[in-house]
Amino acid sequence: MSRSGEPLATLFAAAKAAQMNAYAPYSRFKVGAALTTPGGAVFSGGNVENAAYPEGVCAETSAISAMAQAGQRRIAEICVVGDGEALCTPCGGCRQRIREFADEETLIHVAGPEGVRVTFKLADLLPESFGPGHLPRERA
Ligand code: THU
Repeated sequence: MSRSGEPLATLFAAAKAAQMNAYAPYSRFKVGAALTTPGGAVFSGGNVENAAYPEGVCAETSAISAMAQAGQRRIAEICVVGDGEALCTPCGGCRQRIREFADEETLIHVAGPEGVRVTFKLADLLPESFGPGHLPRERA
């Protein structure tokens, strides 16, 4: 059982489903992400590219947008799935986007097609991070 109470298999399955609907005709590298909130709600997303290459969005960003749009503000854990042998770890920008709604202990599961390969804490991937608490007061 995971930090949110959802089985990790559920989170992985949601990330895989999102990966199938990713839109990545340029990189041909489909990524899916699924996150849970502390209450157990699951939100997912895939990368969505476009012809102006740098303007595409990552899977993690899509999932976070879905969560925020549903009025949720905390990530309990997140699973990211990509194909290939290399670990599909979140890019730098997505680490910071996850950070906004997470804490040092938040789990980031990195998966391949066969399942979760490695689990990190956010503090492993984004040490000494800057977050909302660094600002004079929270504006959200
Ligand atoms: N990508 C993600 O969606 N998440 C990651 O964690 C790594 C990279 C996407 C961005 C781009 O659409 C494609 O994968 C190739 O970089």
